[in-house]
Amino acid sequence: MSEVLVVEGGHPLKGTITVRGAKNFVSKAMVAALLGETPSLLKNVPSIKDVQVVSDLLGLHGVAVKYDAEAGTISLDPSDVVNCGATEIDAHAGQSRIPILMCGPLLHRLGEAFIPDLGGCAIGDRPIDFHLEILRQMGATVEKTEHGIHLQAKKRLQGTKIELPYPSVGATEQLLLSAVEAEGITELSNAAVEPEIMDLIAVLQKMGAIISVDTDRVIRIEGVEKLHGYVHNSLADRIEAASWASAALATGGDVTVKGATQQEMMTFLNIYRKVGGEFEILEDGIRFWHPGGDTLHGIVMETDVHPGFMTDWQQPLVVALTQANGLSIVHETVYENRFGFTDALRQMGAHIQVYRECLGGRKCRFGQRNFRHSAVISGPTPLRAADITVPDLRGGFSHLIAALAAEGRSTVRGIKLIDRGYENFREKLIALGAHFEELEEEEASLAA
Ligand code: EPU
Repeated sequence: MSEVLVVEGGHPLKGTITVRGAKNFVSKAMVAALLGETPSLLKNVPSIKDVQVVSDLLGLHGVAVKYDAEAGTISLDPSDVVNCGATEIDAHAGQSRIPILMCGPLLHRLGEAFIPDLGGCAIGDRPIDFHLEILRQMGATVEKTEHGIHLQAKKRLQGTKIELPYPSVGATEQLLLSAVEAEGITELSNAAVEPEIMDLIAVLQKMGAIISVDTDRVIRIEGVEKLHGYVHNSLADRIEAASWASAALATGGDVTVKGATQQEMMTFLNIYRKVGGEFEILEDGIRFWHPGGDTLHGIVMETDVHPGFMTDWQQPLVVALTQANGLSIVHETVYENRFGFTDALRQMGAHIQVYRECLGGRKCRFGQRNFRHSAVISGPTPLRAADITVPDLRGGFSHLIAALAAEGRSTVRGIKLIDRGYENFREKLIALGAHFEELEEEEASLAA
């Protein structure tokens, strides 16, 4: 995979691409397979780096993983789960946030778990205090060591009653994966209810779990003694679908995203329409397009947990907003530090200012603190080519969109990060008529 793309911008993206399963569900469903006494089969699995990382981590714990990239199926046989040495697992430190979710299943299977220092995108502090509190309350001991965290459970994890300080996606998944085989009933208040979480609940139910979700964000789990394997088709990646939709808008293009589903994207579709983008729901996907002319307009919006506007939809859309008439205000309420990617957009000519105040809506938990979490975008501004380095997964894809929208040749470095969550994005760009060349870092330095 190339490290650098030299993008000749200014050409509208036009054509059809396909998205497969959601990165942020597939990795969790793979971890759930650890809980079964028989093998599991997951379908619609995309070929992305995160799937590889989780396969490797499960492999280290004795799970036999077989991935067929073309068919998009992954089989996971957990018959021989074993403990993994600190040194082996340490080699995976910093690659992913998924190891924290393996704790509950490993505690059930082996009575202990060791997880390395976590990775993931640098978009805030990303603490794991909620996760550790859940595991402690369920009876695990947690010991921080030099290279990671060692957990032990002398007996079966115990059901408990917990209220999350914030509806964290990961902490809700932690609780689900730990409580399904715990002794007794567990109740989680202020839970996250993202579609990816509901799909994880569907998987766990197929495995034999008893879980109910109340309308007031309360999840109730009755622990069972045994679970078996599952067969499941992953829901579509609504973040990837929205990223291509925003790319269509920013470049004045017309992109049909096969596999995209309306239900999980309703909030995005409303904002897309308010900005002036057009879409049509098809039988097997969604077509997104720019209606032509100077027709996009600014909006005031904020990110939130489901059913709000996803934080991961924000960065690609901000690039499109640089091409809209008037002021837009985007208030980021999920992560404290998710506007770092706008530095590169400013370098390319965008007018974006970031503020510490909660602008445009309700006060959020970052309001009285020192985080630049509101952005004001003034458009439209033509974007000009630049030499940029991608900062994280979603910010990185936004940089790519900006380069595709900008006049001239941009150099976008560090694009391997995008492989973490966007399947075959180089091939998809070609299918959409993008003009670019792939280089390795050394070649790009020589060319500079
Ligand atoms: N938080 C805590 N303590 C915790 C856990 C979370 O303070 O123990 C805070 C976080 O710092 C953050 C907020 O709670 O401010 C929300 O974090 P959450 O736990 O919901 O996020 P996550 O589970 O770590 C997943 C996705 C993210 C996505 C968020 C929100 C995965 C692997 N990652 O992260 O996806 O942005 O939910 O929907 O599922 C991405 O795909 O690029 C990505 C970053």
